[in-house]
Amino acid sequence: MRKNDFLYLKTEKMINNGFCLARYNGKIVLVNKCLPEEEVLAKIVKVRRDYIEAEAIEIIESSKYRIEPKCKYFGLCGGCKLQDILYEKQLEIKKEFVNDDFIRIGKIQDVEIPLPIPSKHDYFYRNKMEYSFGKRWLFTNSEYNEQEKKFALGLHIPGQFEKVIHLDKCYLQSEFSNNIRNYIGDYLFERGVKIHSLKEREGLLKALVVRESYHTQEKMINLITTKYDENLMVNLANKIKAKFPEVTTFVNSISDSKISSTISNESIVVFGKGYIIEKLFGYEFEIYPNTFFQTNTPQAENLFSLIRNDLSKDTAKNSSSNRILIDLYSGVGVLCIILSEFFDKVLCFEEVEQSIISAKRNAQRNNVKNIKFIKQNLLDGFELDESFFNKKKVIIIDPPRAGLSKNVIQQIKTLKPVKIYYISCNPATQARDIAYLIEHYKISAVQPVDMFPQTYHIENFIILEKK
Ligand SMILES: C[S@@+](CC[C@H](N)C(=O)[O-])C[C@H]1O[C@@H](n2cnc3c(N)ncnc32)[C@H](O)[C@@H]1O
Repeated sequence: MRKNDFLYLKTEKMINNGFCLARYNGKIVLVNKCLPEEEVLAKIVKVRRDYIEAEAIEIIESSKYRIEPKCKYFGLCGGCKLQDILYEKQLEIKKEFVNDDFIRIGKIQDVEIPLPIPSKHDYFYRNKMEYSFGKRWLFTNSEYNEQEKKFALGLHIPGQFEKVIHLDKCYLQSEFSNNIRNYIGDYLFERGVKIHSLKEREGLLKALVVRESYHTQEKMINLITTKYDENLMVNLANKIKAKFPEVTTFVNSISDSKISSTISNESIVVFGKGYIIEKLFGYEFEIYPNTFFQTNTPQAENLFSLIRNDLSKDTAKNSSSNRILIDLYSGVGVLCIILSEFFDKVLCFEEVEQSIISAKRNAQRNNVKNIKFIKQNLLDGFELDESFFNKKKVIIIDPPRAGLSKNVIQQIKTLKPVKIYYISCNPATQARDIAYLIEHYKISAVQPVDMFPQTYHIENFIILEKK
């Protein structure tokens, strides 16, 4: 078998980069551009030592789960890659992703992975969207004038650094988000404002971020530019106020980063308070232009309820005091604040100074007094005051995709918490980390949560209890 040869294949399951598994004369074939349980004619792209990579060029018998994608940019845009699969099947596929990682990486055989908790909204679920300005991706059979070719506001195509698909409708955020993106894009285009080119290092416009609060309905518009143009911002602000009175704050972030469109040095508040408020479990949180907040609010509530319910049961069973919560990778303090009522003392570790400042403000805003935020790069591990050593400890972990550092794992083993809650946006690194802890801990619950419908991403939650 060689590159460019054709194969008839029957696909089995999907693996987590979107390829489907198939077999040909006993050899594994990973096939792109198809769904599980389909008969396809595929062309070999690469022959590797252990497997063959191929691309479906014709679907002969299509899957019963295949549906018509909603979006006209499907297949090109990197946003929603699973739009052509029934939502119920997406959940099964994601369950398998977690199962595969647990078995293959964690060597954990005896844990039943349940179906993910489905998202209340399978479209329009994001409370934050980052739209880029860039040169327009040109569709064939469309006519563009020279100006249009240089201007787009929308989403990047994977692997296309400078080109952007100019969107008129995106199914990930609300109708409001679509309307205001289109309005601001047209306004800037008609005035001939130049997009910034990372290659040529000129032009003003980098990105537009729309953030919306689910429970308070507050809305933030953040235009990211290379410098402050007062005239432009004041005029645009007046237009936004007149056309979209629901916008509660408009911010202009200034970014001179050579590598990113959204990392900014400062944010100028053009109108409003410069942040929006979100409410979870009766607590209020300030969300700033650059601070992290879970992207699918009702799903974050479902996820956090799993922990709050478990803690309520524990508290009812065992009223003994001296319980310490250690929150690793605490961000702006959302989790540790909503869990603080279950503990005597909460210690939070986070690397980013700006997040620590926000977390302290959030604790103050909610009158939470039993909490301490410590700036710490967790790659180097973390230290606890000796006075906490003999107290009953629970650890909550919500790391970035890379998972836990060796130092953190070592420190957890030393501290011997009675329980560990581990939230992960990358089940592969989570499974790896659990394998290091499994000698001393048993998995008492696993629950994937579908935060990002229509994408390959899955959040997984587990509870580890000391053996
Ligand atoms: C998924 S977020 C956690 C959010 C938080 N649990 C919440 O509820 O808002 C991951 C956090 O880890 C932080 N982080 C990433 N690498 C880190 C490191 N090496 N040391 C400490 N914190 C880190 C990030 O700044 C981010 O706030």
